[in-house]
Amino acid sequence: MGHVDTGKTKLLDCIRGTNVQEGEAGGITQQIGATYFPAENIRERTKELRADVKLKVPGLLVIDTPGHESFTNLRSRGSGLCDIAVLVVDIMHGLEPQTIESLNLLKMRNTKFIVALNKVRFIMVDRLYGWKTCRNAPIEKAMKQQSKYVKIQFETQLVQIITQFKEQGLNTELNNMDKEMRETYRIVPTSAISGEGIPDLLLVLAKLTEKTMVENLTYRNEVQCTVLEVKVIEGLGTTIDVVLVNGMLHEGDQIVGPIVTSIRALLTPHPMNELRVKGTYQNHRAIKGAQGIKITAPGLEHAIAGAALYVVGPHDDLEEVKETAMGD
Ligand code: GTP
Ligand code: MG
Ligand code: NA
Repeated sequence: MGHVDTGKTKLLDCIRGTNVQEGEAGGITQQIGATYFPAENIRERTKELRADVKLKVPGLLVIDTPGHESFTNLRSRGSGLCDIAVLVVDIMHGLEPQTIESLNLLKMRNTKFIVALNKVRFIMVDRLYGWKTCRNAPIEKAMKQQSKYVKIQFETQLVQIITQFKEQGLNTELNNMDKEMRETYRIVPTSAISGEGIPDLLLVLAKLTEKTMVENLTYRNEVQCTVLEVKVIEGLGTTIDVVLVNGMLHEGDQIVGPIVTSIRALLTPHPMNELRVKGTYQNHRAIKGAQGIKITAPGLEHAIAGAALYVVGPHDDLEEVKETAMGD
């Protein structure tokens, strides 16, 4: 989450090795996105930090939200779906209106988050003592390569931003890998262009997942699923993109959301690919949350973005499920 153009999508592109941001109209994200990061990709990308990433989950489903002021509803929906958030802040701009709006959404739901202090490479880039690029390096290694002047500039910006967070009632500190995760919010400097700090960001995310989710993460059968988009795809007809937070979906499941239909196909993009970008899909007989899924079924043109999707089980009464769905 974060203010417009802080680099949320670009950070994801850097991690995925994709070009989603450049394909966006006006460079602005206008939909919620979803990408599955398998645990082995996270381990691979953090291995230079020589940390033991346990990650007791098979992977993380990462959701991208728009930062433009007109998409408050999407930020709210996105923050409602997540267990952990990454708040992206532009190091040269500090906290901006939608940063604060996002912060308030996270506070409201008591969601743990980390701060990606992005565009770190912008510091001094146009001046004499420019940032020295260390592609995809852990931030400590990248910082060591910088001139004293760049380091001072960085410190100045950092101190200002920590103060701005304090004004919002939050204690933040620069990430230190050697320290135990505490009750403060960690700031991880990143560059989405050259990848510095990405290993750190992923490692802190993995550690926070281990720490805060493992006890909460009991896989439940109950389906918790939200419709993100209703989209016509050539060759597939009207489809819906959903985030399945919990439970399992099967081909043939009768679903209500709020239209009643039966799942024809369950499709996912390949791991490390964005659901909202058209590509090739993997077909699944059944699929477990958390996942971003494209569903094909008859009658989906009447589905509604933002609606919860219910599955009618063998012992459920269709009329009751429909009433619940209409009540949402
Ligand atoms: P919205 O989704 O529209 O809110 O924007 P966003 O936060 O996803 O930002 P986006 O990825 O669209 O990046 C905005 C602009 O900042 C693009 O032109 C990026 O190339 C640029 N940008 C993003 N990250 C970095 C960075 O780390 N360094 C530099 N120099 N530019 C960056
Ligand atoms: Mg974006
Ligand atoms: Na943008």
